[in-house]
Amino acid sequence: MNSTQATTEAAPPTAKPAGPDDALEARLLAIEAAARFHNVELDREELRYRRGTQPEPAALVAWVRDGGLWAKAVRMRFGQLLKIEVASPVILLLRDGSAAILTTADPARNIVWLKDPRAPSSDPPVAVDELRLSQVWSGETLLIRAIRDLTDENAPFSFLWVWGVVRHEHKLLRDMFFGSFALSLLTLVPPLIVMTTLNRVLTYRSVSTLALVGIFFTIALLYETLLNYTRRKIIYVVGARVDAKISLHIFKRMLRLPLDFFEKQQAGEITYKINQVNKIRDFLTGKMMSTMLDMVALLVLIPVIFVMQPTLAWITLVCAGLIALIIMIFMGPVSRAIGRWIQAETQKSSVLVETLHGIRTVKSLALEPQQRDLWDRRTATSVQLKLEASDLANWPQTLVNPLEGVMSRGVVLLGALLAITTPGSVDPGTLIGFMMIAGRVAAPLIGIARLMDDLQEVRLAVGFVQSVINNKPESANPSAGLRPKIEGALQFNGVNYTYPGTKARALDGVTFEVPVGTMLGLVGKSGSGKSTIARLMQGITRDYEGYLKLDGTDLREINLAHLRRNLGVVLQENFLFRGTIRENIIAGRPGLTLTDAVRAARLAGAEEFIERMPNGYETWIEEGSPNLSGGQRQRLAIARALIHDPRLLILDEATSALDPESEALVNANLTRIGKGRTMVIVSHRLTSLTDCDQILVLEKGKVLDMAPHSVLLERCSVYRQLWLQQNRHLERPAPPRGGVAVLAQGD
Ligand SMILES: Nc1ncnc2c1ncn2[C@@H]1O[C@H](COP(=O)(O)OP(=O)(O)OP(=O)(O)O)[C@@H](O)[C@H]1O
Ligand SMILES: [Mg+2]
Repeated sequence: MNSTQATTEAAPPTAKPAGPDDALEARLLAIEAAARFHNVELDREELRYRRGTQPEPAALVAWVRDGGLWAKAVRMRFGQLLKIEVASPVILLLRDGSAAILTTADPARNIVWLKDPRAPSSDPPVAVDELRLSQVWSGETLLIRAIRDLTDENAPFSFLWVWGVVRHEHKLLRDMFFGSFALSLLTLVPPLIVMTTLNRVLTYRSVSTLALVGIFFTIALLYETLLNYTRRKIIYVVGARVDAKISLHIFKRMLRLPLDFFEKQQAGEITYKINQVNKIRDFLTGKMMSTMLDMVALLVLIPVIFVMQPTLAWITLVCAGLIALIIMIFMGPVSRAIGRWIQAETQKSSVLVETLHGIRTVKSLALEPQQRDLWDRRTATSVQLKLEASDLANWPQTLVNPLEGVMSRGVVLLGALLAITTPGSVDPGTLIGFMMIAGRVAAPLIGIARLMDDLQEVRLAVGFVQSVINNKPESANPSAGLRPKIEGALQFNGVNYTYPGTKARALDGVTFEVPVGTMLGLVGKSGSGKSTIARLMQGITRDYEGYLKLDGTDLREINLAHLRRNLGVVLQENFLFRGTIRENIIAGRPGLTLTDAVRAARLAGAEEFIERMPNGYETWIEEGSPNLSGGQRQRLAIARALIHDPRLLILDEATSALDPESEALVNANLTRIGKGRTMVIVSHRLTSLTDCDQILVLEKGKVLDMAPHSVLLERCSVYRQLWLQQNRHLERPAPPRGGVAVLAQGD
């Protein structure tokens, strides 16, 4: 009875004719509810950064995964829905673009209970049968679960981790194992044929046996070709997949590292170290894989040689053992020598990077000879160490050579000797056959020994990658944290901060508070801690003492991405990406158009020069923007910071590098820019701060005073001194602002 009643009642998601926005809203609500079930707050902003306004299931899955949950989009049938154990919400993606949440399934009555995500949570779920559901649902389902262990995402990088990624391809690896096994059986064919030819065909002059052998040989050859083709294919498919996985992972982890890390290390060094991951991958999917596969052959070959001739088989094995021993002995010293060489290579490459990075300075100061000299010396060291390492590595190879010869060819002589001394123990065919197989036994054994050699280099590579990737990330879980609406009220309370590795406090008991919409100037001598305050506000460093609150919320509690998305920051030096002016202003923010770019440019005082450019907003900027003046670059950076209308704008010496005219242009706009938002302006030129609501004076990390310009002139001697230093020329003629008049009286 209940079921008939249920079927007459339409499922809520289908009942309302949903518009596309409404439908999407339902989908997002459903997913958010499912995530909340696992105590994860998803950020819609994140989804906007994934392509498209109508997100594909794949984008939704990625969104949920970025939030730290397990998600998968699957296609299910009604029967499967009935059987599903609803331990956590299951989301049905409906045809109209909306979604429904499956709460329970009732296989006995053939119905499922669904909830409309838009309905109030007090509403009971609705029962739906197969027919009704099939009208609105094509089978697309989103499964969301908590991740039981975060190992994959947060596990430290190590050789084992990479090996885990390789092992993940176990199906392909298994195919490869069987393929190799089959191949090694086939490798027995040529020796067997030679044996047969020598022993039977030649002895009995049997043409029919020869023909048979010929046919057998041809078939085996075809098989071998095919198997080899497949094996190579599997190896490179596995290689490509592992490569993609590792690359994605490494890049993601690198982006999560804090800014401090990048400031401490040269970009070139980081690049070099990260690129070492290619070595690890090549090793695992190349040499190691093929050696392992060759090892499979030993399973077949070793028993066969013992059956053929035990004495010769023992000789072969002893030689192989000696080879392994030699290589093991040399392994340590050789790898240390290689390590020294790699160290020198790193130092050498850092000269290259430094020179390229500072090529302007190098050229303008005519530092070429010094840089060349440095490069020469580093190259010499590197070459020297490389020679030493190669010299050392040459020894095991040299010693192994004769043993290898004995294994593959010497056995013939020994076999012949054996045949003479103990007649009947070896016949000529067996001898030749044995020789051919023994060669195949030697190859993987030597391969293994060589592998050990490479393993050292790979271990070094792992160390390099680890030294970058395994640093503490900026936040353990990028999706964690509050996402309050940011208005811009700022509060520092007893903030102390000491840069790691230094003794003196960069900030010492900094306490101040400004309400929403304040234009706050920060002044102080060089090194007084102005930039440090700006850094703390951006969450670049979070290990300060005391409290830093944004609209009353502790900054450490706020989600980092959310915080930075709501800030606008302009520094003294700003990086413009390759692309058009419009693209640079919009900077990949979704949903923004040329109109927004124009508005931001106008506010930043950049409109005037952009419109004079040959292609206007479509003018192409090269990396490092050589075709723009410093002032133009800076105004673009300000426009970029303003494009998303941030409530809190930080300008750290943003106008310091500008010529007076451009500075005046930007300054004239500052009041306009500051309308409706909090602005923190760090500047050395006090004239540009006279309009600020409040000016904070810092000295050696301590707050000396905070007041408007005119008040500070009166009561803060440090501020007065700074002002006087910069504005002596203004003293005698009519002062521009009341402040100086006050000062003149005070003096
Ligand atoms: N990355 C860093 N590592 C170590 N110490 C630092 C670092 N950055 C700044 N400091 C130190 O912290 C103090 C404050 O530096 P900060 O950059 O905040 O000064 P500032 O007022 O912005 O100076 P300037 O006007 O020159 O930009 C200085 O004594 C400086 O030596
Ligand atoms: Mg500074």
